[in-house]
Amino acid sequence: MTGRRPLLAPSVLAADFGRLAEEITAVVEGGADWIHVDVMDGHFVPNLTFGAEMIRTARRVTDLPIDVHLMIEHPERVFDEYVEAGAGVLTLHVEATCHLHRHLQRIRELGAKAGAAINPGTPLSALDAAWEEIDLLLVMSVNPGWAGQAFIRSALDKLRTARERIDRLPDGVRPLLEVDGGIDAANAAEVTAAGADVLVSGSGIYRGDDPAGSTRALRAAAQAGLS
Ligand code: DX5
Ligand code: ZN
Repeated sequence: MTGRRPLLAPSVLAADFGRLAEEITAVVEGGADWIHVDVMDGHFVPNLTFGAEMIRTARRVTDLPIDVHLMIEHPERVFDEYVEAGAGVLTLHVEATCHLHRHLQRIRELGAKAGAAINPGTPLSALDAAWEEIDLLLVMSVNPGWAGQAFIRSALDKLRTARERIDRLPDGVRPLLEVDGGIDAANAAEVTAAGADVLVSGSGIYRGDDPAGSTRALRAAAQAGLS
């Protein structure tokens, strides 16, 4: 058993929005570490979801860090407002900007953790010039847009390569490695064994009627990958 403790970030995208506060409270009781909020603009991805109000709502319900995943064009336009609303982590997609480095710096200046996400079709080398500005690397294990899609297994290789790359970075540069898409108790051990530090899960947590229990099951499975 290693000393690593994976962080769990349930995604409210798969929650029942009519009972949002209850749905968030349940995963907090189940031992969630972060609350993941998926922001989509109908341009970078076809789907359209929510914005600052959802971050404020999550912030009112829990003190856990709010992990905001921006699937939007011109992400820099929302940084100030979203950090003000309570985002603890702000992750933008490298495919959405030609100013990755500048935007990561700006997120840090605002006091949040700066995240960079890569789609399944984007190589890790897209991060090469920006590692020192990254607090979190998000490896997508589905093509972004919807909850409930099947896990893309080639993400495991990408996670392993990312883990090796991160572990070789200079002292003091240790971005967290997050994985998002199709994660549940059935594959959590594989992703932590491949090196993931943070597991996002939407349907895996909310598709049943016991999100607290599903969070605990995800924890046990994630931990098993490290034994
Ligand atoms: C997909 C989102 C995910 C989604 C995960 O575009 O980024 O965070 O909510 O949902 P599941 O776990 O159901 O794939
Ligand atoms: Zn997400």
